[in-house]
Amino acid sequence: MLLLFISVFLVCVWLYLKWRNSYWNRRGVFQIEARPLFSKVSSAETMLKQYARAKSLNHKYGGTYFLYVPVFIPIDPIIIKNILQRDFIHFHGHGTYHQPKDVLSMNLFNLDGESWKRLRAKLTPTFTSGKMKMMFDTLLEKTTGLKKVVGEYADSGQTCAIKDILARFTTDVIGSCAFGIECNSLEEPNNDFRKYGKKAFEPNIRKFLKVFLIPHWILAKTGYKFSGEDVTEFFTNMVKETIRYRETNNIYRKDFMQLLLEIRNQKETMDRVLTTNEIIAQCYVFFLAGFETSSTAITFALLELSRNLDVQEKLRREILQVLNEYNGTLCYEAVGDMKYLDMVVQETLRKFPPAASIPRVCSKRYKVPDSDLVIEKGVRVQIPVWGLHMDPEYYPDPEVFNPENFSEENRNKRPDFTFLPFGEGPRMCIGMRFGLLQTKVGLISLIRNFHFTLNEKTKTPLEMERGSIVLVAKGDIWLNVKRI
Ligand code: HEM
Repeated sequence: MLLLFISVFLVCVWLYLKWRNSYWNRRGVFQIEARPLFSKVSSAETMLKQYARAKSLNHKYGGTYFLYVPVFIPIDPIIIKNILQRDFIHFHGHGTYHQPKDVLSMNLFNLDGESWKRLRAKLTPTFTSGKMKMMFDTLLEKTTGLKKVVGEYADSGQTCAIKDILARFTTDVIGSCAFGIECNSLEEPNNDFRKYGKKAFEPNIRKFLKVFLIPHWILAKTGYKFSGEDVTEFFTNMVKETIRYRETNNIYRKDFMQLLLEIRNQKETMDRVLTTNEIIAQCYVFFLAGFETSSTAITFALLELSRNLDVQEKLRREILQVLNEYNGTLCYEAVGDMKYLDMVVQETLRKFPPAASIPRVCSKRYKVPDSDLVIEKGVRVQIPVWGLHMDPEYYPDPEVFNPENFSEENRNKRPDFTFLPFGEGPRMCIGMRFGLLQTKVGLISLIRNFHFTLNEKTKTPLEMERGSIVLVAKGDIWLNVKRI
């Protein structure tokens, strides 16, 4: 009897999963094979293939599954534009876990609906170009440590594993600009800030399965903390301590923390006020969203500059020429004048977008225009950013690193929504200006002072890290460095 019961149960489960796995077929949507849970290929590379397959068959959209959960993948840039911008009201959330007892989770990236809208409005003035200019010197200070570390490799003639050095550089930048902390990861690679930063990004399949499979309201009831108790405690204490120290000693610094404290203290406009917990969560997300994205962008840029020496030389010439016009001083305006640098950075973000895809969740039943398809409430969407960036229709020879893809002429030739490293629409990256600035300042300080070539220890063709949230190369990127 027991055996019979188990067999019937297993057959029922199997039939149910089979039925779940036909969700898109039943709706007449091109069904793209799902990535097996323990695949050796990263989800970013899988999605790149899924995009290419749907596109090669002229589909405007397709559907796949993550653990039997249906995921809609728009291919046509017009549909993508509608989702991200025109019909944003149907797709305003990222579908990520958040609940008030988990302080760090209540950050801008995770919130949705009205609470997201209100918070976004409060934080937007923190990222204007005027504020970036104000923080420029705080950022620039951190290049001294970067040049010192890379200089030691140049002087000793050792090959330089650049990935970790750049992660330490951007950790120091964000640590200083978001938390007002001098965390010195460049000097002390194993400090707590770096340790907890690394931990927050560690691939953790159990954590992801939990938030994907268990309804969030159940997790919330258990008081689940997505980032873990130790990470939560570390960042919470640090922000509280910084606030206390600044307030008792009347410290003023040119950084995000200062701007957030100013918003907190605007008592006359109550709806714009931030609480201490809100400040903690935002500092945390600025750190998470800000350090790894930019450090991988600088890493990939250096990789490409090391194997395209003509581009490296051209970039160096521009940097030196512009700096000459500013008497050798790097300032905010000088960065803005470096047009070729901008093209190099954009091309890097095209070939290696740190966010290879962007999540959305449908919050209100949506009929896809000019089709019979209805996307039901709760269905997840992934915008295939990397797929668009590697599509030969928009970028001829997409494997070739070619900054000319971002000349004004070529930019104008492309349809909208085919270059999305920062997303688009009301929810696009709020830190874009800062991300670009720190990427550019890091590159300027390195290319101005050092010459890079690729060391044969770098594994090519590149493979991407399997469990990473951000698009990161597997293994190290090894460079030979010489002083200029
Ligand atoms: C090269 C660097 C960066 C890249 C490529 C990048 C990319 C992105 C992308 C793709 C999104 C999702 C956009 C969407 O859903 O449409 C995003 C959101 C976000 N980013 Fe960035 N980012 C970078 C740097 C930064 C920095 C430096 C900060 C903060 C200081 C930051 C803070 C955020 C925040 C808070 C969000 C959530 C915005 C919201 O949901 O309203 N990012 N970023």
